Amino acid sequence: MTQRKGIILAGGSGTRLYPITMGLSKQLLPIYDKPMVYYPLSVLMLAGIREMAVITTPQDQAQFQRLLGDGSQWGLELTYIAQPEPEGLAQAYILAKDFLAGAPSAMVLGDNIFFGHGLPEILAAADAQTTGGTVFGYRVADPERYGVVDFAPDGTVRQIVEKPKVAPSRYAVTGLYFLDGTAPERAAKVEKSERGELEITTLLEMYLADGKLSVQQMGRGYAWLDTGTHGSLLDAGNFVRTLSERQGQQIGSPDEIAYQRGWIDADALRARAEIFGKNQYGEYLLRLLG
Ligand code: TTP
Repeated sequence: MTQRKGIILAGGSGTRLYPITMGLSKQLLPIYDKPMVYYPLSVLMLAGIREMAVITTPQDQAQFQRLLGDGSQWGLELTYIAQPEPEGLAQAYILAKDFLAGAPSAMVLGDNIFFGHGLPEILAAADAQTTGGTVFGYRVADPERYGVVDFAPDGTVRQIVEKPKVAPSRYAVTGLYFLDGTAPERAAKVEKSERGELEITTLLEMYLADGKLSVQQMGRGYAWLDTGTHGSLLDAGNFVRTLSERQGQQIGSPDEIAYQRGWIDADALRARAEIFGKNQYGEYLLRLLG
């Protein structure tokens, strides 16, 4: 079986965060003590993925490269792909076609934060599904803002509706998509929506029509945080601060995950810790060495 590859979709225009994002990519903004992109990156690492493409706007690519490098500091292999215009989430699969080279993928949106006990297990279950697709449904108070799952009375999924005026359920589809190797060829058949985007919902509908989409529920023990508005950005930072300070454990640390998985050794972790000097993050990494 071909190893699943990762995609971090970190382009977009971030207009809801203007004026902040007029000069800086949203996904580079801080969520408490780390850049936003560290969190989705960590999720793909928790799914066991080491080969990933980072999709950004052409103008932001150099900054992402400066931040993340080639990934070798975490035992990863990072590839950078530019999205010339933000023409929709499904476009990522077209842009990443050569990178994926037929492999199944896990795509995460660069501004989505996931947290919860048992996350590695549900990611492993999605990874084990090598044909078709798996997405996650999460209960939200304002489903109208998202792609929403329409369940039939027997609990199966009837359709996924993008930003419905009247939501068929409270379950939004999160920004984490496990799709098989057919995603790029299916994405090529997606037509632009009224708002001019290649919608991920349309791509997911194709899987659904073939009976190949599984929607797993992410229960109330999980946090799925959005960071797209000024308020939610601050809330996400406070959430990370509250939990990590209370527990004395990091959320979204690629350094810690790489070390725990054995993708980097103690010397490599120590070298990383030294970069951070005496700040709390550096001290935390040193403590992991025991
Ligand atoms: P959105 O939050 O839908 O869009 P945005 O980030 O451009 O922000 P705004 O609505 O404020 O203008 O995007 C969700 C994620 O997907 C985000 O991480 C950016 C990314 N994205 C792309 O990389 N390319 C795209 O074409 C789109 C639409 C989004």
